[in-house]
Amino acid sequence: MPAAVITGGTDGIGRALADTYLDRGYDVLVIGTNEAKGEAFLSAAAGRGTAGRPRFLTADLGLVAENRRIAARIAELHPVLDLLVLGARYHRSTRAETADGFEGNFALHYLSRYLLGHGTAELLRRADHPTVLNFGGSGQTGPVRWHDLQLRQDYPGTGALGHGGSLCDLLGTHFAELHPDVHYVLNHPGVVATSFAGEYDPATAAHVDRLRVLGKPVSAAVAQILPHLDSPATGLTAVLEGREVPTSGPAFDPADGRRLHGITEELLAGLPR
Ligand SMILES: NC(=O)c1ccc[n+]([C@@H]2O[C@H](COP(=O)([O-])OP(=O)(O)OC[C@H]3O[C@@H](n4cnc5c(N)ncnc54)[C@H](OP(=O)(O)O)[C@@H]3O)[C@@H](O)[C@H]2O)c1
Repeated sequence: MPAAVITGGTDGIGRALADTYLDRGYDVLVIGTNEAKGEAFLSAAAGRGTAGRPRFLTADLGLVAENRRIAARIAELHPVLDLLVLGARYHRSTRAETADGFEGNFALHYLSRYLLGHGTAELLRRADHPTVLNFGGSGQTGPVRWHDLQLRQDYPGTGALGHGGSLCDLLGTHFAELHPDVHYVLNHPGVVATSFAGEYDPATAAHVDRLRVLGKPVSAAVAQILPHLDSPATGLTAVLEGREVPTSGPAFDPADGRRLHGITEELLAGLPR
C-alpha cells in the first residue's frame, strides 16, 4: 500500500487531500494538535469504508523535538514514503515565540517543513515516484528578511505567513538540488475557504471571516493541485492556483536556498539535542 504523510491533515486543504488519498488506497498518516479533529478523520474514514488505511498522530509541529519524534515515527511506520504533504500552519496577529525561541510562523510554516522534509528524504527516495507538496509562496510572497528571520522588527501580522511562504520556496529549491529524483511541488492555492487556524486581532478576524465566505471551496483547491501531484516529473515545480509558474526567478535562487539551509543548520545546532 503506498504511503502518504500529511501535516495539517486534520483540516482544510490537508484534510481534503487526506480523504482523497485514502480513497485512492493509500496508508495516510495525518498530523495535527487537535485530538477531536484527528478522531473525526478516523471515524469518517471508518464510516465511508475507504480503500486505504487512516492514521492520526498528535504533535505540536512548532517544536523541533516534536518534528524529530514524528520523523522517527514515520520511519518506523513507512520504510518507503510516496507522498509528504507539508500543510500545517497557524497564524498569529501578534508575534509569539515557541519554547525553542523561534518566531511561531518561522517554526511551523518553515522549520517544521525543513525538518520533516529532510528527515524523511531517504524514505521518499525509495519510492517509485516520490512527491513532496509544500504550500510555499510559489514566487508570490516577496523577499526574505535575511537579517530578521525571526520577524522581531515590525512584525507583519498576516505577512508573517507570506514570509514563511518565501522561506518555503527556498527550502524547496535547495531540497530539489539535493534530491533531484524527488518531485518537490510548491503550491500557492490562492484564497481557499478553510478554517484559517489562528489567533486574530478584531480587524484581521473580520477580514478572515470574509475570506471564509469568498474563498474557493477546498474541493477546487484539491482539483487544481492533483494533476501536479500525479505528474511523473522530478525536481522542482511551482504552482499558483493550478498553473505552473517558472522557477527561474529570484524567489528560487539556488544560492539563496543554500544560504538559508546553512543558516537553518546553524540555528538547529544551537539547540540542545
Ligand atoms: N486557505 C487559504 O486561503 C490559503 C492561502 C494560501 C496558502 N494556504 C496554505 O495552504 C496550507 C493549508 O492551509 P489551510 O487553510 O487548508 O489550513 P487550515 O484550515 O488553517 O488548517 C491548518 C492545519 O494546521 C494544523 N496545525 C496548526 N497548528 C499546528 C501545530 N502547531 N502542529 C501541528 N499541526 C498544526 C491544524 O491542525 P489542528 O487543528 O489539529 O492543530 C490544521 O490541520 C497552509 O500551508 C496554508 O498556508 C492557504
